[in-house]
Amino acid sequence: MKNYINIKNKIAPFYKKIEVSGDKSISIRCVLLASQAIGKSKIYNLLESEDVINSLKSIKKLGIDYKKTNNYYEINGLGINGFNSSKNLKINAGNSGTLARLILGLLVNFKKEVTLLGDKSLSARDFSRVTEPLRMFGATIKSTKSKLPVKIIGSEFLRPVKYFEKLGSAQCKSAIMLASLKSPGITEIKAKKSRNHTEILFKNLKIPIKIKKTKSFDYFTIKGETNFKKFDYHIPGDISSSSFFIVLTLLSDKSELLIKNININNSRTGIIKILNKMNAKIKFKNKKIYKGELISDIYIKSVKNLKGINCPENLNSSAIDEFLVIFLVAAKAKGVSTFKNLTELNKKESPRLDIAIKFLKMIGIKVLRKNDSIKIFGKPNIKLSKVYNIKNFKKDHRVFMMSCIAALSFGGEWNIFDKDSINSSFPNFLKITKQLGARIY
Ligand code: S3P
Repeated sequence: MKNYINIKNKIAPFYKKIEVSGDKSISIRCVLLASQAIGKSKIYNLLESEDVINSLKSIKKLGIDYKKTNNYYEINGLGINGFNSSKNLKINAGNSGTLARLILGLLVNFKKEVTLLGDKSLSARDFSRVTEPLRMFGATIKSTKSKLPVKIIGSEFLRPVKYFEKLGSAQCKSAIMLASLKSPGITEIKAKKSRNHTEILFKNLKIPIKIKKTKSFDYFTIKGETNFKKFDYHIPGDISSSSFFIVLTLLSDKSELLIKNININNSRTGIIKILNKMNAKIKFKNKKIYKGELISDIYIKSVKNLKGINCPENLNSSAIDEFLVIFLVAAKAKGVSTFKNLTELNKKESPRLDIAIKFLKMIGIKVLRKNDSIKIFGKPNIKLSKVYNIKNFKKDHRVFMMSCIAALSFGGEWNIFDKDSINSSFPNFLKITKQLGARIY
């Protein structure tokens, strides 16, 4: 089957209501935490993407059974010491940084050696951010240049740690929190702000965690070695998957969209705050709280007078996975947009800052870069007519989807390769895009 798509037409005006698949961060956390609970947890609306399927396969290798029924996954957890295997193991995290980093946290007390592998993109990413704190717990971890493959052997004699997480990485924070479950005593973490789904789940599962928040940092104390019970969870829709359609609606003519039942946790809604500062007028409707997470429908309408933004740096973390599409809005906005200190953006599935700059220049947008900050000179009348071939983006799912949105919003003829990449996070992406009326071949 061909692994590229062709787009020749901008999308026609649409007026629709859609749902997107379950949140990836929460799906992976639910699978991993259910593997540590005692009893059979039921997870509804689990995202069925490669990153999550690899999470299920990983816990299965570690001796945890699961099955899929009509509308939920049932995971039979055996408690915080329940992983078992008679031999050393290989675990393949595929493309998923979240799975790879979080599962290392759960292996700090596992007796066999586990070799953690990943695809080409994941194998180029840094693991020192998790191996460093996890070694402090007492686990033995080997790797070359802090890259995959990482080999870990857990310890029977763990000690709790005091750690300052300085990067604002939720994956690093969460890996430490998961390791703290296995360790005796109290683990103390000071963490730069990042998405907070793990701590919300810990609270919900009655894992003894204390949280103190200041403007820039969160402080946690977690009492380890406490088992917790099975749970049921309905995963809300993913704002990162929604972001492609939010931006498509904004950049299209005379269109309106309602996206149902999305997680709008404050640590994830940077994109909404940024786009509203650019004149977007995106609204939340039917807000409700579910197990400590804020859920809502999102209403978006096309906007003619988008304006540039001087993006406040404190929104970077809560918009980190959405910058590629935010840059498309900046490309069409009136005036210059400035985004500062995007160091972490180059550490994702691909070096997204480098790729975005190349992409914007390719479609005729002026971009100035100074270190990890950029200025984008918007063109409100942007209209493309050339042929664009998008390849060699390290199969980064978000680069593929962003390119589709650019094609459907700005015109021109596009061949976008590595279609399979969407399976990491959002296998239904093209189906939903077509439901909105896009012609994609
Ligand atoms: C994630 C955290 C973020 C994000 C990633 C998912 C998570 O990465 O970019 O897509 O689920 O914890 P960092 O924690 O590295 O910032």
